[in-house]
Amino acid sequence: MRIVVLAGGTSTERDVSLVTGYRVCESLRRNGHEANMLDIFLGVDDSEVKTFFTEKNDLGELSDNLKKKTADIPAEVKRRTEARESFFGRNVLELCKEADMVFMGLHGSNGEDGKVQATFDLLGIRYTGTDYLSSAISMSKELAKKVLVPEGIPMPKGVTLHKGHKIEYVPFPCVVKPCCGGSSVGVSIAHNEKEFEDALDEAFSYEDTVLVEEFVDGREFSVAVLDGKALPVIEIEPLEGFYDYKNKYKAGSTKETCPANIPEDIASQMQFWAEKCCQAAGVTTYARVDELLDKNNNIFCLEINTLPGMTDTSLIPQEAAAVGISYDELTEKIIEISLA
Ligand code: DAL
Ligand code: MG
Repeated sequence: MRIVVLAGGTSTERDVSLVTGYRVCESLRRNGHEANMLDIFLGVDDSEVKTFFTEKNDLGELSDNLKKKTADIPAEVKRRTEARESFFGRNVLELCKEADMVFMGLHGSNGEDGKVQATFDLLGIRYTGTDYLSSAISMSKELAKKVLVPEGIPMPKGVTLHKGHKIEYVPFPCVVKPCCGGSSVGVSIAHNEKEFEDALDEAFSYEDTVLVEEFVDGREFSVAVLDGKALPVIEIEPLEGFYDYKNKYKAGSTKETCPANIPEDIASQMQFWAEKCCQAAGVTTYARVDELLDKNNNIFCLEINTLPGMTDTSLIPQEAAAVGISYDELTEKIIEISLA
């Protein structure tokens, strides 16, 4: 098949997306497809990105290299936004229309949030992953709570706060997150008023809406759902702090165990909730649900990632490997399910 792998974009997860896209593109070529990666924003192809790609499995280093390439993006984003010009880089839509399929390697806003998917629906372009509406519901942590909690899904209690508004009472510790972010960018844990103010400043520097949630003191897990069925649970143990951006992408900074070392009934419950989250939000194809387990064995679902990372340190390839599905089989399955 002729496949365009879309990656990059303008979100805070741009660098992660470029690695996802690059790895997926390599995999699709190994599978015999004619695959090309495109940076959706700049419109450049993978031969240009490759120049800046390091093989060292270290996103920090990759980010530094890519920054040199994309140093002009903020001004460019601003110019485009002000001029209301297209978000799509040069020729991107034309190349997508010519392809048999678009593999979505985008993460975060303008990619994982349904906007690109809705555009593709209108243009009749086939793409991997779930549809625009379930993407939008899952990307917004505010909207996701409104959809998932009434379905009985256990989630930490939380309130949405808009810029300029005050919150009456904050139980500490609490977690402050940008409403529509990813990869923990802008997420902080606050233990007192001062830390809370700093956490709000940090989160509001990304978005005008933030989520303030009760802090759940527990172990961190993730459960991928492939075609409606949960894969084995993976446990995530950062060597320091919580599973933030550095611990997510710096190789060796987090211990991951799959299948997780937990009783079978707890693992089954976690898988049940992951599947239920996807059903409730209408998420199809594949996704990854992040969950916590407190000391009393209470499970809390945090969020659904509808375009989960496919980098070297990402979780869904590890969960797939635990049931004998290789990285290349996983990319192929994602295409098959999306076409079905
Ligand atoms: N948001 C990142 C890419 C993930 O969930 O894997
Ligand atoms: Mg996420």
